[in-house]
Amino acid sequence: MSGRIPREFIDDLLVRVDIVDLVDSHVPLKKTGSNYVARCPFHSEKTPSFSVNRTKQFYHCFGCGAGGNAISFLMAFSHLDFVEAIEDLAGFIGVDVPREAMAYQQAKQDYSALYSILEQSAVFYVEQLRSNSEASVAVEYLKKRGLSGDIAQEFSLGYAPNKWDALASRFDNSLLLDAGMLVSKEGGGVYDRFRGRLIFPIRDRRKRIVGFGARVLDDTLPKYLNSPETSVFSKGKELYGLSELLEKSAKPKRILVVEGYMDVLALAQFGVFYSVATLGTATTKTHLDLLFRFTSEIIFCFDGDAAGQKAAWKAVQEVFPCLKDGRQVRIMVMPEGHDPDSLIREQGSDSFEEKIVNAQAMSDYFFEYIARDIDLHTVEGQSLLMTQAKPYLEKIPAGFFRGMMFARLSRESSSSLLDVLEKPAMLGGSQKLNYKSSKGSAKGSPVRIVVAHLLQNPQLIDAFEQRSLDLSEMNFPGLDVLKEVVQAIDEIKPSNSAVLMEYFRGKPSEKVVNTLINWDFFILNKGVEAEFLGAVDLMLQQLEEERLNGLWDKEKESGLSAEERGLLGRLLVRKK
Ligand code: UTP
Ligand code: MN
Repeated sequence: MSGRIPREFIDDLLVRVDIVDLVDSHVPLKKTGSNYVARCPFHSEKTPSFSVNRTKQFYHCFGCGAGGNAISFLMAFSHLDFVEAIEDLAGFIGVDVPREAMAYQQAKQDYSALYSILEQSAVFYVEQLRSNSEASVAVEYLKKRGLSGDIAQEFSLGYAPNKWDALASRFDNSLLLDAGMLVSKEGGGVYDRFRGRLIFPIRDRRKRIVGFGARVLDDTLPKYLNSPETSVFSKGKELYGLSELLEKSAKPKRILVVEGYMDVLALAQFGVFYSVATLGTATTKTHLDLLFRFTSEIIFCFDGDAAGQKAAWKAVQEVFPCLKDGRQVRIMVMPEGHDPDSLIREQGSDSFEEKIVNAQAMSDYFFEYIARDIDLHTVEGQSLLMTQAKPYLEKIPAGFFRGMMFARLSRESSSSLLDVLEKPAMLGGSQKLNYKSSKGSAKGSPVRIVVAHLLQNPQLIDAFEQRSLDLSEMNFPGLDVLKEVVQAIDEIKPSNSAVLMEYFRGKPSEKVVNTLINWDFFILNKGVEAEFLGAVDLMLQQLEEERLNGLWDKEKESGLSAEERGLLGRLLVRKK
């Protein structure tokens, strides 16, 4: 189905589903006090620090910081995008997802017929490999390459008969054309794209077949043919082997990126199940972002030759913008003349896995590569290194890794100049805030505490509005978020925090909202509302204090207007 999902439906869903049941159906929970806990599914740990709160309707891990509402949970746990998560959630409580009609453009196409014809083609090729006598060359070839029957089955390898119309004579031609399985002849007519080849079906991460790779069984060229780009297949987005890998492990410790289909198969056969291959194209940022959804460490495997070196450098450039803290990339260069397939067959899996673990950190690779022709003993060389390296480092997102790369550049180029250039920007903006969330107590400025209470108990808005504060009159750090939250509550009247949290998805304040919504407060006997109003008072007090100081300073420097002096007087009186 197509069309936008109505906002009210999503909000309603978040009220109707109970996150405790939802999470419990994926990760068995244990009740302790008012919370339900488990070992965190998003990082490995021995003692449970993952907790689900029924009142607030969200989950939070004190170990790794993961957290969110029911939608976020499905997105993270089942690797779904937003719409997929809503569909699953609706399925969980047994309702259909309604869609709004899209007037302005034709609704997103329904590709199920394409997926289905691709699946049928794959099944046909598998059958051919098994039962067509002509396929014995392919079976022989697989044997010669040392591939086991199990691997052939796991990856659904097939054989395309050496005929012009094996598919064309069986299935709907216009669908086959749209799926990239046929080629149009100039004078009209069509023929099968893949003929007399070994077939490698390519699946997306949702296990749907989206295209094929096809290898000759002799020395003819081109060695490999791939499906062309179609509505469901884009080489820059798909990775061979990812679907099969995720079947084995939803959160692999690391993922290896290799160059060839055969490499993925050989590695899997030797127990290194965690590799994927690009499809004869360079690694893109989209590939990397996709992989980092499943793992925190990516290792690139490149051939030892000049082409491999070039590919490695290209990949490194692509990687910089993806390197948020906590993500690691390493580079493994194959010995001359080897690819992962030949290396693991020659040396065995233990030796291969040892090489994986010892692969060079991307930072080392980067500095080695970029300085390879530079004489760092001269000032000229040092400044050249700086000029060349800086544009790359600037692509790294704000964080500690970025800071450390700049620090290293300044060491490598024996320069302290960069300290001056980079320091203010190094850590990015958001880390200036020095509030802290911890298990026992929340520390933070009064305004943050006010916001946190409102997020966690949206019904406090009544008490807040009874104070009749004019927020537009006020000006202090953190006020923007407070205004946003008050406005959001007024607008959507959320029944719980999870709905409110949903409102902020994708907005600039999403991150701070998610942090504050997770703060834990010690609520004394007075109750939440009294606690909250206390924080509001504190916030106002601090505000007055700041105003008072401002007026005081101005009085000393340039004098106050009559109006300002009146205000100062009133503030001083109130203070006593
Ligand atoms: P390789 O030539 O290194 O292939 O190309 P390979 O996987 O080692 O193949 P074998 O071992 O000879 O069977 C690496 C990748 O580049 C793409 C394919 O995706 C291949 O797996 N490629 C290569 C093409 O798309 N077309 C070609 O003609 C050759
Ligand atoms: Mn090879």
